Amino acid sequence: MARIIAGFGSPHAPAIGAAVDRGEEQSAYWKPLFDGYKPMRAWLEREQPDVLILFSNDHFTSFFLDFIPTFAIAVAGQHEIADEGWGRRPLPEVPGHTELAWHLSRQLIEGGFDLSVCHRLPLDHGCLSPLSALMPRVARWPVCVVPILVNVLHFPIPTAVRCFQLGRAIRQAVASYEDDLRVVVLGTGGLSHQLAGERFGTIAPDWDAEFLDRLETDPKSLAAMSHQQFIERGGTESVEMIMWLCMRGALSEKVRRVHRNYYHATLTGYAQVIFEDTEA
Ligand code: DHB
Ligand code: FE
Repeated sequence: MARIIAGFGSPHAPAIGAAVDRGEEQSAYWKPLFDGYKPMRAWLEREQPDVLILFSNDHFTSFFLDFIPTFAIAVAGQHEIADEGWGRRPLPEVPGHTELAWHLSRQLIEGGFDLSVCHRLPLDHGCLSPLSALMPRVARWPVCVVPILVNVLHFPIPTAVRCFQLGRAIRQAVASYEDDLRVVVLGTGGLSHQLAGERFGTIAPDWDAEFLDRLETDPKSLAAMSHQQFIERGGTESVEMIMWLCMRGALSEKVRRVHRNYYHATLTGYAQVIFEDTEA
């Protein structure tokens, strides 16, 4: 039987991937962020999970205004590296897990979650920034990745509670997969930030800290929030924090927090966590 052993949280801003590519991880500017990846890298090396289920969003790279799935899953055996307009990053293609991805697709769609099933879905910074920060400069990725993309970009977007329920549904579906796989779920994005408009540059460290506390101990209260409440507290683009609820929904009710880091220097409140599943 497959089981979820932990949930990770990571930001996914493109600048993070660029810092990896330029070897700037130890610069004064980036060190407080990349120090936060060290325990996560060590955890991955120690635990050697088989699969990462990665919750992120496309940023008008593979989808555009003519076609925006609310939830999408990538079932390919290899995920391409997208060119986001400044050239492809020098990363190997990311191995998928077609069998698990199809299992999740069937279980979820038949269980009431209508994911769009994507046979080709080049990945952008939403997936690649966290992957390259967690596993920098690999010749081959040591883990298979099943991307699940959530539309957090163009309204109407799914509610926070729906994202939490998606996580619950993923947990059930993983548990019904026959082969022994050790799975990590990874929520990406946020936390507080606003990249346009009057409140451009909004960062709310107090709200980010409260979010991380409640994510750990009381995620249902976050799932009850409206998009407007997220936006008022953390800025327009912070609404992507609902993708962390997909991750949390896939974990046991109680989790063991073994890592938490927070840093804000750029336009975004960057947070990292490891929550170990207490039923694994
Ligand atoms: C930026 C982009 C993102 O997708 C994000 O989640 C945070 C920051 C950026 O362009 O800075
Ligand atoms: Fe983003």
